[in-house]
Order: sequence, then structure tokens, then C-alpha cells
Amino acid sequence: MTESGCPKMDASHMADSGNWVTVAARPKLGDGDILGVSVGEEQIALYNLGGEIFATSNICTHAFALLSDGWLDGDVIECPLHAGRFEVKTGKGLGPPIPCDIKTYPVRVVGDDVQVQLGG
Ligand code: FES
Repeated sequence: MTESGCPKMDASHMADSGNWVTVAARPKLGDGDILGVSVGEEQIALYNLGGEIFATSNICTHAFALLSDGWLDGDVIECPLHAGRFEVKTGKGLGPPIPCDIKTYPVRVVGDDVQVQLGG
């Protein structure tokens, strides 16, 4: 979904130039778990999909709701407020009522640390 008014989901921010920040302990995220974390100004949702960790913004693009309070259905997160749905791996919005895709973050696991890449 690319409608005017939505921030550009530019892949260039994924260049390996941002800061990797530890946001959680890997053992806290069991298979199928979602964990909301705050890093500075950013609210991030972490997801364990079959043992692989993914991260998106935790704030729905429709209104203010935390996706970490929502429901995972395979690799789709459903917003708890109006049931908007996003693909966790890509951030792609899957239709109304959500107006925009959601930001995703690169993730890596270093030892027991889950790290996300911010900025860059
Ligand atoms: Fe998420 Fe409305 S706040 S769908």
C-alpha cells in the first residue's frame, strides 16, 4: 500500500550503517510470542515466528494501538483495536482500515541478545 501521506518505506535505511541496539533477551521470546519494547522514542514489537525474530513498529498506522497487544496469525499481526492486519516480515498493510504499511527493523541475535538496527 503506498498512498500519499504515508511515510516512504525506503529500504536504504537498511544499509549496514545504523546502530544495533539490544532490546530484549532472546530466551524471553518463545515461539509465537510477541514482545513490546521501548528504545528511546521508538516503540518496537518483536515477534518470534518459528524461531526467527522479526521487529516492526509497535504502533498501528491507523490509530494508537500497540500491536504487541494484538494477535499473531501465522506471520500476520492483527491490531487489537480495529483488526487491521500487517505482514510481520515485510510490514505490508493488508487493507482497510489501515492506511499505511508499518515500519520494520532489521534484527539480529547475538548470544542471548536480540538486537534491532535503528537509524542508519
Ligand atoms: Fe489498528 Fe485501528 S488502531 S486498526
